[in-house]
Amino acid sequence: MTDSALLVVVLAAGKGVRMRSALPKVLHPIGGRSMLAHVLATVGALGAKRIAVVVGPGMEAVRSEAASAAPGIEVFEQSEQLGTAHAVLAARAALERHRGTVLVLFADSPLTEGATLRRMIEALDGGAHIAVLGFEPEDPSGYGRIVVEAEGRVTAIREEKDAGEAERRISLCNAGVMAFRVSNLVDLLVRIGDANAKSEYYLTDAPAIAGGDGLIAVPVTCAAEEALGINTRAQLAAAEAVFQRRARARAMEGGASLLAPETVWFSYDTALGRDVVIEPNVFFGPGVVVEDGVHILANCHLVGTRLRKGARVGPFARLRPGADIGAEAHIGNFVEVKNARMEAGAKANHLAYVGDGRVGEGANIGAGTIFCNYDGFDKHFTDVGKGAFVGSNSSLVAPVRIGDGAYVGSGSVITRDVEPDALAVERSAQDIRPGWAAKFRRLKRNRKKSP
Ligand code: UD1
Ligand code: MG
Repeated sequence: MTDSALLVVVLAAGKGVRMRSALPKVLHPIGGRSMLAHVLATVGALGAKRIAVVVGPGMEAVRSEAASAAPGIEVFEQSEQLGTAHAVLAARAALERHRGTVLVLFADSPLTEGATLRRMIEALDGGAHIAVLGFEPEDPSGYGRIVVEAEGRVTAIREEKDAGEAERRISLCNAGVMAFRVSNLVDLLVRIGDANAKSEYYLTDAPAIAGGDGLIAVPVTCAAEEALGINTRAQLAAAEAVFQRRARARAMEGGASLLAPETVWFSYDTALGRDVVIEPNVFFGPGVVVEDGVHILANCHLVGTRLRKGARVGPFARLRPGADIGAEAHIGNFVEVKNARMEAGAKANHLAYVGDGRVGEGANIGAGTIFCNYDGFDKHFTDVGKGAFVGSNSSLVAPVRIGDGAYVGSGSVITRDVEPDALAVERSAQDIRPGWAAKFRRLKRNRKKSP
């Protein structure tokens, strides 16, 4: 089968009322990216060229999320949410144009793996007309039950609200993914009615109707965690847990050491090199690249950051978008870096804010140094040269430039450029009064004694 013979229809029009959210359900994130984007990434990896996403009216954000996931995705609007079969028919124009396999996915089931979808297509290659993805969850409540006949054919799928006692005891549940290879899918779908508990047009009625035409529907099974459908916040958290478990396993397989894997949180795109060591309680937001040999100490929060070879960060470091930490550079406790490049071997070991700047090779940023980058309207740049030394508790008021090899005396507020190899000190002269403290104490004590 060629890729062009596959049309994937992703349903994303449901309002997701059970989430109780202003955000459309399929835009809720897992591992830092929307459920919809997860599904579209899996579909993309399958090599599918024709992808249709069905959205609800006014779901502009869902539309643009779909469009940004891959060029050429067609978006269809389902004017009213009348059920999953009705939703597939919203993409009627794409179905009518297409000859070949149609794969229907739910955007609220983002954990299904590409290999599973391939097995469904293979089931069709084996002669079936419909493949239904089934799984056996610990708690089947809310899912449709798959009725399988003795010879292994799916004769019906019963939604829980419509199921009788015996049907509810069926452990095989409908994951929601269905693959079709029928001569006219539209003709099959338009025959689905809404005589059920929810008065909806259920896609799950397709196998029974197809059976009446003499067509064959078969089940394909997958692990329960792959089929997790997200309708509630609790299920969203459960899906996040599955995502994280997978990401941690992948990180360790790739050659990273996680001291307490269950406390490290990854994003969908976290890239780790080899021999990376990650201590407990580290959070990776999107866009983090960690090169070989990096050591991340406990309790760090990283987003949009690159850590180059052998860098050491933390404990308690906050690295925000645009932080670029050079090879062997050190970022220590309570240091925040944003949109700034620390070049090779540069150090900011304690309590500093490095925002909108560059810290040259081997330069040292002392404890308590602040890059004063913002004037309430604009951000300004601070440039610290190679080998420069910024003494503790200094404020560098941007825009400002500290030359290569220059020194800044502790406690200085630097507002003008410092030339290379110069010393800049900005503080009043120290005043020493010998014996003052002893005299002061004597005076105070004497006063206390007298009535
Ligand atoms: C559905 C299945 C159920 C299955 C479960 C798996 C049906 C009738 N039921 O139930 O058998 O066990 O998924 O998670 O198919 N959608 C639309 N338009 C609509 C209705 C839904 O686009 O009019 C979309 C939703 O955005 C969602 C998907 O279809 O992505 C499934 O809808 P949902 O309401 O979540 O169905 P479930 O009750 O979970
Ligand atoms: Mg659902």
